Amino acid sequence: MSKSTATFTCTSCGAAHKKWQGRCEGCGAWNSIIEEAPLSAGPKALAGRGRSITLTDLATEEAPPPRAGSGIAELDRVLGGGLVPASAILVGGDPGIGKSTLLLQAAASFARRGLPVMYISGEEAAAQVRMRAQRLGLTDAPVQLGAETNLRDILTTLDATRPALAIIDSIQTMWLDTVESAPGSVSQVRAACHELVTFAKKRGVAVILVGHVTKDGQIAGPRVVEHMVDTVLYFEGERGHQFRILRAVKNRFGPADEIGVFEMTGDGLAEVTNPSALFLSDRDKPAPGSAVFAGIEGTRPVLTEIQALVAPSPLGTPRRTVVGLDSGRLSTILAVLEARCGIPFTGLDVFLNVAGGLRVNEPAADLAVAAALLSAREDVAIPPDMVLFGEISLSGALRPVGQTENRLKEASKLGFSQAVAPARSKTGDGAGMQVREMADLTAFVGEMFGAG
Ligand code: TYD
Ligand code: MG
Repeated sequence: MSKSTATFTCTSCGAAHKKWQGRCEGCGAWNSIIEEAPLSAGPKALAGRGRSITLTDLATEEAPPPRAGSGIAELDRVLGGGLVPASAILVGGDPGIGKSTLLLQAAASFARRGLPVMYISGEEAAAQVRMRAQRLGLTDAPVQLGAETNLRDILTTLDATRPALAIIDSIQTMWLDTVESAPGSVSQVRAACHELVTFAKKRGVAVILVGHVTKDGQIAGPRVVEHMVDTVLYFEGERGHQFRILRAVKNRFGPADEIGVFEMTGDGLAEVTNPSALFLSDRDKPAPGSAVFAGIEGTRPVLTEIQALVAPSPLGTPRRTVVGLDSGRLSTILAVLEARCGIPFTGLDVFLNVAGGLRVNEPAADLAVAAALLSAREDVAIPPDMVLFGEISLSGALRPVGQTENRLKEASKLGFSQAVAPARSKTGDGAGMQVREMADLTAFVGEMFGAG
């Protein structure tokens, strides 16, 4: 008779193992495997032994949840239009990126609008947080501040006070006395998050949890934390650049991929209402290797400059260095240029950069990337008043992308007057732009750079 012996489970990825081991082979996490008691009875034995649950149909008379606006428009947009009561939000980001600053400003902003807010810091002493508040000019806001790491005490306090919003900075510093392992360990983080999320739902208190991010860009601790919460926001930015992007990667109450743009200044984070202007601000004279991509971030059009540098390589294997874009995407575009347009990059180092430190994930950036690469290679500048967008397929065809009209409108607003788009794009009236539609990359190369 076969009996399942897999009673060791990874708390990070859920993989089952036959015996305990220090590192999970499934996801590579260390110290994440715990022993789980086997099921005492099969599923069959359960039927008929519980109580029936109440079922409803999908139609609802209930109004959509009322949202509380923070007054910080960039934050409200990322939340999907404001804070949903009793929701759980995780804000992840590298240490020092400005999570505590952002949330202290948000706390003050909510509190000034009459929302009872509690800010619990497990990382800094109350005096430190007060000093920061003073520096940011927030001392007048009626925020309840606490410095504590014991979750039992925090939950007791929250239950007695019942604020509308509780901010926990950070989830990695919280610990439960019912869990044996050390604070910050996978089981502590998982248990603390579970307690807080359950509390949020039961008691109608919205919680915002701060989570640190590991080197490879994941919330430190178990991935399950991201599954437990309603909304996951990442606060990102390049070191050496002063602006920061708050990105919704998961949102049960709004669109994911929405971004909010902030600038870190001497007195805290300032909203950037026109990110395109910011990302293009460093552009001076038309230079070879630069192309402007008319992109969409979430629901908002954002123009960014793609920069390329192509130089003879002293190395056997030429360098391919990418910042702000997927390196696989660059390889694909280089391969298409070579195979479909007969433009080889062999023996050439290629450096590609999205100006300003933004990360572009849209396939629509392909055409602008190809344009920047060609422009750098041929040493021919692209007209400074031109934007480009379009996805390149492996056959070299240009595929139309979504929201063409929005892209054109934004470009027109920022003073651009011509655009290159894939054939059959829904350009509408073109927003006053001169739009050139091209069916494939070969046509583009022929028109822009002679025969190539
Ligand atoms: P912080 O919010 O503490 O980061 P996190 O909580 O994500 O670790 O931000 C710290 C950084 O922000 C620090 O390097 C200093 C900078 N900063 C400013 O530039 N201006 C300010 O007004 C504040 C409060 C911080
Ligand atoms: Mg912090």
